[in-house]
Amino acid sequence: MAKRHYNQEGDLQSLFIHMEELVLANSGEDEFEEVFKLLIAKLWDERSQQSRFHPYSTDGATFEAIAKLMQQAEKEWPGVLDEAKPRLTPEHLSICVDALSKHSISNDSLDVIDSFFEFIVSKSAKGAKGQYFTPRYVVELCVRILQPASHETVLDPACGSGGFLLHTLKFVKRNEGLNNAEELERFCSEKLWGFDIDNKAIRVAKALMVLAGDGSSNIIRLNSLLKPEMVGLFNNINDPDFTIEDVCRSRIKRHKGFDVILTNPPFAGEIREKDFLNCYTVANKKDQVERDVLFIERCLELLKPGGRLAIVLPHNKFANKALTFLREWIFKKARVLAVIGLGRHTFLPHTHQKTSILVLQKNSSLMKILPDYNIFFAISEKEGKNSKGQFILRESALKSDSNWDIVDHDFSEISESFAQFLKQENIKFEE
Ligand SMILES: C[S@@+](CC[C@H](N)C(=O)[O-])C[C@H]1O[C@@H](n2cnc3c(N)ncnc32)[C@H](O)[C@@H]1O
Repeated sequence: MAKRHYNQEGDLQSLFIHMEELVLANSGEDEFEEVFKLLIAKLWDERSQQSRFHPYSTDGATFEAIAKLMQQAEKEWPGVLDEAKPRLTPEHLSICVDALSKHSISNDSLDVIDSFFEFIVSKSAKGAKGQYFTPRYVVELCVRILQPASHETVLDPACGSGGFLLHTLKFVKRNEGLNNAEELERFCSEKLWGFDIDNKAIRVAKALMVLAGDGSSNIIRLNSLLKPEMVGLFNNINDPDFTIEDVCRSRIKRHKGFDVILTNPPFAGEIREKDFLNCYTVANKKDQVERDVLFIERCLELLKPGGRLAIVLPHNKFANKALTFLREWIFKKARVLAVIGLGRHTFLPHTHQKTSILVLQKNSSLMKILPDYNIFFAISEKEGKNSKGQFILRESALKSDSNWDIVDHDFSEISESFAQFLKQENIKFEE
């Protein structure tokens, strides 16, 4: 039986709607923040086997006990909570605690918690600033295409909720049988790296990584587009003024670049700061450049020679005449392995943008630089969502919490054909 059936008292989503109806909607507080804090407190209570997450004889006593659990969780998992104290009134808090206390988060699968976070984040963010989750079956396709291994460093410089890192972890567990808690923790804390400029996204990613393997230390808030030569140029007090390179220098021995980068940069938003654009070749002296264009250059810079990248991009990056310079630049820096076209509905309800996945291998001295070569092209014909952005489920849906299993997509065929293509072309990822 799938794990979601173990929870008798309703799933997280129904619980949230219940709490929203009872108190959250009228509390005047940020619903996401308050529920997130409660979930982390509950999770800590379950992990530390304290059984203290329940209503007490008075609302004040409940408030005290829950605040204590939040403080302990914050100590154990630094950076997951913004504020280790409930903002709800003791009365409102007691109602939510009562509802949540009957639910066991440990019995939920990671997929269930992941989709719950997506549900509450998108409720509060509404796709603002390109901050939506990448559909998990798209994430899984990218991971299957790049096949990261447990000895490789994997980066997502726009990690959002950490979907690519989470699925890398799941892939490595499955592919290499990495199941021992110590090995998992080591893999998470040494090999998986996620950066994002948004504080909320970082906290969700950290929470998911804690749940997945207790390794959330490499999920860090910074501006990934900031290059070392730019430090000090901008004085935005809200932006950390340190770079990915600074983090790597202090934390990874003999770092020569990441082995694998999996990412879905924001589709919206342009950069206009001249000093910023001057540091990017792909800006090509333009006055304004879309952020995803800069992310392509940044990712190739952050990869080690021979490293590989899968990046989800709006379709115009592949076809727009004005971006010929970008495409020529990419061909000089890397071998283009694949372009996989996704359906127009894939990113609904957040955006209608038609997108494709670009797969590259950065040039290295060991790779033969060919003047002409084959590229794997595929177009998904089963996008798994309808025009309202709702999932289309397989007729014979497996009993599973993972949307790779239950959504009606054709990504298995695409990833298998790509594996065939690699064989035919004699392309090996390991150097
Ligand atoms: C489409 S979302 C990525 C979603 C992510 N793959 C997930 O599944 O949750 C794009 C992310 O890029 C982040 N972002 C935008 N500009 C950034 C920057 N300059 N540096 C780091 N992250 C940035 C946003 O905060 C957002 O979380």
